[in-house]
Amino acid sequence: MDPENSRRDFLKKSIFLLGGLMAVGVAVPGGTYFLSPLWRKGEEGWLELGEISKILPGEPVKVDYAQRRRDGWATIEEKSSAWVVTDDGKKFTVFDPHCTHLGCPYHWDTAKKKFLCPCHNATFGMDGQVISGPPPRPLDQFTTKVVGGKLLIKPRSGGA
Ligand code: FES
Repeated sequence: MDPENSRRDFLKKSIFLLGGLMAVGVAVPGGTYFLSPLWRKGEEGWLELGEISKILPGEPVKVDYAQRRRDGWATIEEKSSAWVVTDDGKKFTVFDPHCTHLGCPYHWDTAKKKFLCPCHNATFGMDGQVISGPPPRPLDQFTTKVVGGKLLIKPRSGGA
């Protein structure tokens, strides 16, 4: 074989090899980044509402929190709130902030010691039971746990 052709052949193969390595070097990290949401498990974790020491017994406390939800490649942050009730500072009940009639936000009336929904004049007790008005069921509750002095709730699918 002609040494000139052999050198040219070697250079061609080297350039193809180098080009192939560069293509793999770009494609693997890029493909991993773009495809990772497809095999990543849904992050159905617990949401932290805060220190339990700041929730005083006997009076419902409204707590605001942000929930991050992954939708394909986008991460969406949704702000929400919950009503937290405790009798002893150890066991906590956390209510969804929407009335169980048509979903209006309700509030705690300190003087009347009741949750009031202004939309259709419903009232709920501090235990979430319906006292008066059209709601078909008690206030919805989140599953809760306390870890390291912090109150956590399990978000329901579809946001809270
Ligand atoms: S939405 Fe609350 S009473 Fe109707």
